Amino acid sequence: MAKQWFEDYFDEHYLPTHGDGLARAPGEVEFIVTALGLPPGSAILDLACGHGRHAVELAARGYQVSGLDLSRALLAKAEEYARSRDVQLELIEEDMRRIPETWAARFDGIINVFTAWGYFEQDAENEQVIQSVARSLKLGGRFLLDVINREWVIRHFRDTQWREEADGILALERVTLNLRRSRSESVRTFVLPDGRRLIRPVVVRLYTLAEVSAVFSRHNLEITDVYGGWSGEEYTMDSRRMIVVAERQK
Ligand SMILES: C[S@@+](CC[C@H](N)C(=O)[O-])C[C@H]1O[C@@H](n2cnc3c(N)ncnc32)[C@H](O)[C@@H]1O
Repeated sequence: MAKQWFEDYFDEHYLPTHGDGLARAPGEVEFIVTALGLPPGSAILDLACGHGRHAVELAARGYQVSGLDLSRALLAKAEEYARSRDVQLELIEEDMRRIPETWAARFDGIINVFTAWGYFEQDAENEQVIQSVARSLKLGGRFLLDVINREWVIRHFRDTQWREEADGILALERVTLNLRRSRSESVRTFVLPDGRRLIRPVVVRLYTLAEVSAVFSRHNLEITDVYGGWSGEEYTMDSRRMIVVAERQK
């Protein structure tokens, strides 16, 4: 099978071209712990944990944290970051469709944040992630999903964008909305300080809240709260984020 975009995208170039987001993590984790409502000591899985910015912050607050991610490069950063903050994390390199079966009913909470869902070619594969999430939660356990809000993307659509990162890295993006498949299909070009160019595709399934709700309910996850941002803003068509909190019912 041909390689998929996310197998290459999150390599050693990812953090320099996107920023590490470390400064925002404490505020985001403050919101996460309030939204999940779990006491310190609870077992939390950070699914697609990346370089561990939320996982480490949660561990520093006394949670038992596991992190799963496909990127060896980012997991190495997470390990290094955990060591520098003197906290313990359990980290595994795995595809999010394959949360280990030995982790069934293990977690009080699972998070998947910063648009780390919707990467797969088939909707059934994206749903498989949710099925594994539900299986890995204890009964009554809570799941927090944070993705870009499809309604915002549509209302504020721009087909060409550029930004400048630290070190003078230039990021240019051309986006097409594939309305038939409800996917944003981009090509991102990064111009590195030494003049090299990285050209990378990114394809993300944009889910409506109604679709998320239908997928969740097929796996006994009942939505309890929906927010439009990291300060607990109301979710509307103009929210940048769609943050959904759900509870495993059976
Ligand atoms: C946008 S980043 C978000 C990372 C992290 N949650 C954060 O907020 O910093 C997406 C993450 O998903 C991971 N990822 C991509 N495809 C994956 C897959 N199939 N299975 C597990 N992790 C995957 C990437 O390696 C990356 O760490």
